[in-house]
Amino acid sequence: MPVRTEIPVYHPDLYAASAIRDTYPHYAALRDLGPVVRLSKHKVYALPRYAECKQVLLDDDTFVSSGGVGLNPVANRVGQGTTLCSDGEEHARRRSLLAHRLTPRALRAMKDTVEQQAAAVVEAAVARRTVDAVEVATALPMSVVPDLVGWPQQGREHLLRWAGAAFDALGPFNRQAVRALPASLGMLRYARGVVRDRSVLDGSMGDDLLRASEEGRIMPAECATMMLDYLAPSLDTTISAISSALHLFATHPEQWRLLKADPGLVPKAVNEVVRYESPIRAFGRIAARDTELAGVPLAEGSRVLVLYGSANRDPLEWDDPDTFDIRRDAARQLGFGQGTHGCAGQGLARMETSAILHALLERVDRIKVTGTPEWALNNIIHCLERLPLELIPA
Ligand code: HEM
Repeated sequence: MPVRTEIPVYHPDLYAASAIRDTYPHYAALRDLGPVVRLSKHKVYALPRYAECKQVLLDDDTFVSSGGVGLNPVANRVGQGTTLCSDGEEHARRRSLLAHRLTPRALRAMKDTVEQQAAAVVEAAVARRTVDAVEVATALPMSVVPDLVGWPQQGREHLLRWAGAAFDALGPFNRQAVRALPASLGMLRYARGVVRDRSVLDGSMGDDLLRASEEGRIMPAECATMMLDYLAPSLDTTISAISSALHLFATHPEQWRLLKADPGLVPKAVNEVVRYESPIRAFGRIAARDTELAGVPLAEGSRVLVLYGSANRDPLEWDDPDTFDIRRDAARQLGFGQGTHGCAGQGLARMETSAILHALLERVDRIKVTGTPEWALNNIIHCLERLPLELIPA
């Protein structure tokens, strides 16, 4: 491939409040500039197109995570010891410790409970009829994940704030990241206390981690970071997917009718929601050696930014990418990542989102937006903050 000497530069701040709330025009402008674009404000190389995002995610020898996947050194230091921010054997060892908790078999054992909880959440929402969809979307992940991870009842009231902050803190050092850091550190401090007092729930992931530490398979300090590994990314992401699904079906009634006519489309619909409104905006990687991407030379130590949300709207990859269509085969979307670091919890996230959709299909005829939706301000998570809806019963 010919070497490109001129790397296009993008000056607007991708992490300004306005760009977070209205991000797609920025992604389109970046994609038009080229496959690798220097973000002058953040001194990183953004990858706005599908092909290069996928290439980097699949080449974890060259593009590593152990220097942190965030955009500031403090958050990247806090992330040390997590599965997300490790490479090679260390990563495989950490990931294998809890893999058995999220295998298809383990998930099958949780399915009835998740479906019952989803039915209860939707029944209560339909009874109220007018709801904030984000509250509805929050209920299921909050009732499933803390028990799975083994977080004690005490302290759960802070979890959502802490988990949102843990993501926000991974952005560049802007006002939001600075404001989020204390809460993100608070979550880590609390997790260390939980491990020290051994107050994790019996039979949970936390319990597995304590046992692994007693048996010398992990360092005691890793217990707390690994609990956060599974707790922090499992709330806002799934809340985003469920609330975006509600928003998209409310604003695309013909797609809701298609789903009502054929509930077998639910798995495709979940992929299409995650493609269309990818819950995670971007994570970074560092080039472990001098390399090249789409003909662009990258020196060792360069930080690249995998823009999942932009890759999933890339017209070079998708026909009509800005159209929400649950009939499309969106299984190759990158919203759950790909390769070694591909989302460890995607089976659970898919199960939760599907359970809510099935519960809605049974009980709801139409979904109507009744007020102005507001997008949340978070450096990493693309999620609605508020979405007033009317659920018109079947
Ligand atoms: C719709 C919901 C979700 C989305 C969109 C999502 C997205 C992602 C993405 C994009 C990555 C890749 C990070 C990278 O490339 O560096 C990831 C990793 C991860 N996710 Fe998820 N996630 C979701 C739900 C969950 C849930 C429910 C859990 C836990 C129960 C979870 C646990 C993890 C873990 C542990 C990793 C790190 C994997 C590794 O580094 O090997 N996620 N997720």
